[in-house]
Amino acid sequence: MLRFFANKNRYSFADIGLRCDVHSHILPGVDDGAGEFSDSLAILQAMHAAGVERFILTPHVSGGLFPNKASELRLRFDHLVATLPEELGLQIALHLASEYMIDEFFDEQTDLLYYNDRHILVEMSYGVRSLNLLETVFRLVQEGFTPVLAHPERYIFYYGGRRGPRNVEELEQLQEMGCKFQLNIQSLSGAYGPDSLVNLKYFLDHGWYSYLASDIHAARQMARYTDFQVSPAQFEKVRELASNNETLF
Ligand SMILES: [Fe+2]
Repeated sequence: MLRFFANKNRYSFADIGLRCDVHSHILPGVDDGAGEFSDSLAILQAMHAAGVERFILTPHVSGGLFPNKASELRLRFDHLVATLPEELGLQIALHLASEYMIDEFFDEQTDLLYYNDRHILVEMSYGVRSLNLLETVFRLVQEGFTPVLAHPERYIFYYGGRRGPRNVEELEQLQEMGCKFQLNIQSLSGAYGPDSLVNLKYFLDHGWYSYLASDIHAARQMARYTDFQVSPAQFEKVRELASNNETLF
């Protein structure tokens, strides 16, 4: 398989072999992802055509922009599942979780939507580190959860330029506490700049990622999942992450 990918950085979404996506904004009308049902359907059809069979929907939940309640998300999710065209509905499976912003609002949540085996997706603002990051991870682990930090390669406060990430100690501490890391497919294209790519490669080479996800917001994004700027060996690691996803559904 390695030989097939040698001398090639034009990998695309289908090359990954992603069967189970664990981070997506497909649920309509609840965040900055799909707006209408037709948008949701377009994403599901495009991803299914690229090999995805199981989808974990992870709408944003945050105090400021997206104060979504779990009960309302469940209602919308059930409606989406019931409205799918029959043929597509038979070929794919959907699960509802959420992507929780680590903020004061999250500290007050009691009804949480999470993955299999009490794994829970959390994120921070790209530009501002959450002040309650370590306390929140600690509390979640105490409560029997495994926090999964979305796209650590996108947080600019860990950018240290060409020499590698800044504040490696904290990233190591998070993992020692039991936090897992999830890589975004779009980050592989260098879409978030050279510093993001440096960190991504560092995390990949150090085996710090556990899961891989599309973080898709719109069907047109599928065209951007290409020209991955990683070596063949790093791409093999990416493919391994895709198979780890299966444990979360
Ligand atoms: Fe997301």
